[in-house]
Amino acid sequence: MNVAAPLVGGRLPDGLERFDIGHADYTALIDPDTAFWALLRQGEPEGLDALIRQWQDQRGDFAREMEMLRFGLKPSAVYFNPTERCNLDCSYCYIPREMRRSGEHMSPERLMEAMARLEEYFARTMPEGRKPQIIFHGAEPLLNRDAMFAAIDAYGDRFRFGVQTNATLLDDKTAAFLMERGCGIGLSLDAPEEAIATRSRKRWTGEGVFASTLAAIERLKGYAGFNVICTMNRENLGQLVPMVEFLHEREVPACMLNVVRCTQPGGRSSWAEDEAVAKPYLAALERTHQLFRETGRKLVVANFANILISILAPTARRLMCDISPCGGGRSFFALAPDGSLFPCSEFIGLPSFAGGNLFTDRIEDVLDSPAFKLVTGRKVEDIRACSTCPVRHFCGSPCPAEAHEANGGMDKIGAYCGFYLDQARYAFRLIADGIEGDYLWDGWDEGTEPAFSFGC
Ligand SMILES: C[S@@+](CC[C@H](N)C(=O)[O-])C[C@H]1O[C@@H](n2cnc3c(N)ncnc32)[C@H](O)[C@@H]1O
Ligand code: SF4
Ligand code: SF4
Repeated sequence: MNVAAPLVGGRLPDGLERFDIGHADYTALIDPDTAFWALLRQGEPEGLDALIRQWQDQRGDFAREMEMLRFGLKPSAVYFNPTERCNLDCSYCYIPREMRRSGEHMSPERLMEAMARLEEYFARTMPEGRKPQIIFHGAEPLLNRDAMFAAIDAYGDRFRFGVQTNATLLDDKTAAFLMERGCGIGLSLDAPEEAIATRSRKRWTGEGVFASTLAAIERLKGYAGFNVICTMNRENLGQLVPMVEFLHEREVPACMLNVVRCTQPGGRSSWAEDEAVAKPYLAALERTHQLFRETGRKLVVANFANILISILAPTARRLMCDISPCGGGRSFFALAPDGSLFPCSEFIGLPSFAGGNLFTDRIEDVLDSPAFKLVTGRKVEDIRACSTCPVRHFCGSPCPAEAHEANGGMDKIGAYCGFYLDQARYAFRLIADGIEGDYLWDGWDEGTEPAFSFGC
């Protein structure tokens, strides 16, 4: 386990690096290859020898743990797209417009067949007693609600289910069905102010969907297994603090503040500079903390909680976007309605990344396909800008789809390096101040599964 230790004055042994976290009293010492770290109090050199000895003694264990996390996992979750269609036309969506406008639903029979094939696969690969997770995703999964619900009813005892939805079709009956069965529910909303939310998330006619999202949030009040994704884009950065206030006031238990990915042209037009994103994002995190202190109730920002956990206990992390190789194609994969398998939903608009088809290929062979290997083989060590970065295993240089499409290759960096550096510095500052637990869900270190751990 990592430790806090007194400061060093002199040179550090090879393998250990200083990382300035912007704290008045502490600096971080990191072994980037193993993700070992310690916090050093400035100006107090005692204890360094002991710390170095501890690092040397434990380095092998840390390295093995990292190796397992990075290269030894098998898939345990599927992002299952039951339809190509969507009733919205959000400005940044990574699902191509043509697909969303006139794509196909998966038929109820095909959907059941897909579940049967997935069950067979997981029976071969998952440890006894662990249930794989299916996250109905999309495009808009509730457009194909009845087929999806039949699968939830048929397989509810063998899989854990979640649904990520734009909430336009999440009426009382639908919400009750999902809550009664303990399904995770993710909604999307980009701002607490209707006009701003509508700039990015809207119908094909341009009409906003704020009111229906708000109604859905009210409907789900008190349900622990729900979260709201806010996609940070150039239109809503001024709204992040009011956004967390809005969600906290409505007793939403968790949210994600995700950067907009630049894989597709819409995402690229919505991109904002690192600093422009980092500042309001960190301010929003601070605000969640104040709100917790004022009310005793947390609004967990799950993507940030995951970064904190990646530092505190790397193998306990839930989301796999901030490690390299990322989780795409190795801890989860995505299923398109025609049966095509992709490493992650982010690749669904890129046909060359289909590694095979669920209805005709063995999943093990698909995971081993050249298309999947391109993603599962992407390591920070091979990315020039990242290979010497002290926080490379708390960032992972996401996202491969974005690096490939927007920056020209898998060996290129993603779009938000400065943002990730600022986020890591902030996380270490919280740890230095001993308040990191305020940003995490209760029981995170007791193996408690948060109900909201899907999506990157
Ligand atoms: C693709 S949608 C599918 C499910 C559903 N239609 C919804 O909007 O929640 C899932 C999530 O991905 C987010 N998303 C879409 N395009 C994105 C992009 N380019 N970058 C980051 N997130 C994106 C959406 O905002 C949404 O929260
Ligand atoms: S983000 Fe979701 S709701 Fe918006 S267009 Fe994409 S799939 Fe549809
Ligand atoms: S993207 Fe930036 S912060 Fe992330 S690993 Fe690369 S250099 Fe480090």
